[in-house]
Amino acid sequence: MSLSVSVEPVVLITGGAKRIGRVISSLLHERGFSVAIHFNHSRVEAEEFVEELNHKRSNSASLVQADLTDSFIAVDVVTAIKDRWGRLDGIVHNASMFEPTELLDTNLEDLSGQWDRLLNCHGKTPFFLAQLAALNFPDYFQFMVNLCDIYATLPLCRYSTYSISKSSLIMVTKTLAKELGPRVRVNAVAPGLILLPDGESMDMQTADLMAQRTCLSHMGEPMDIAKTVLFLAQDANYITGQIITVDGGRTLFC
Ligand SMILES: NC(=O)c1ccc[n+]([C@@H]2O[C@H](COP(=O)([O-])OP(=O)(O)OC[C@H]3O[C@@H](n4cnc5c(N)ncnc54)[C@H](OP(=O)(O)O)[C@@H]3O)[C@@H](O)[C@H]2O)c1
Repeated sequence: MSLSVSVEPVVLITGGAKRIGRVISSLLHERGFSVAIHFNHSRVEAEEFVEELNHKRSNSASLVQADLTDSFIAVDVVTAIKDRWGRLDGIVHNASMFEPTELLDTNLEDLSGQWDRLLNCHGKTPFFLAQLAALNFPDYFQFMVNLCDIYATLPLCRYSTYSISKSSLIMVTKTLAKELGPRVRVNAVAPGLILLPDGESMDMQTADLMAQRTCLSHMGEPMDIAKTVLFLAQDANYITGQIITVDGGRTLFC
């Protein structure tokens, strides 16, 4: 339980312990935010990361664990932040489930379960996190940045449920921008290829083809995404309801 309200602005980063979420969290922390690092399974990485951040600046990072496929968990997440920090200024919804959909090889029950989990994690839970933040922290909550995907507007073969669920995040972003304005700005970032899933690699031929079909001829880096998130969080005073594509020009070839 926090005895006093944090002096520094506080941002929640979902899926903030690893990969792109970790780079976003580090950059926001470096720029003066206190960070509530959410994780689901990556407890070890999350605990080490929070310790590292608190070593850099004491009392500047906390942990919150939650499986975001259960949208009611949003209440526990916001309560944990209220108890720890007494305020929440922003949410970066980065947590994501990049799952293939075996459309014709899956029974209705399993496919329906996958729909529910992906739609909850990518659409419903961030919607309720924002609603609860607006209700609980009316004097603080100012921005939300949602990590979307270029494949939210272009269907990705074998990932139909993923694409559909990420497209719901676009409408969540636009709807919340309208509903929560003028106090809260809500935007999204749609990355192109930044990091392959853990354990996957790309063969030379695919990498060459990808480079040929990307104006800037290379994959992006997590910091490209983190800098865009920082801009939307801190500097984009007159931008809301927008989806910023960060893909090196990849979608011009799709
Ligand atoms: N990587 C890319 O090239 C790329 C391209 C386009 C869009 N994006 C988007 O950019 C964001 C970051 O990408 P990424 O590749 O770094 O993401 P990622 O590794 O696929 O996922 C980020 C985190 O989401 C968390 N997560 C997964 N299932 C969850 C659940 N049920 N409940 C709560 N958290 C859950 C995981 O946390 P734990 O590890 O703690 O379980 C994971 O570390 C994502 O939103 C992604 O869709 C990425």
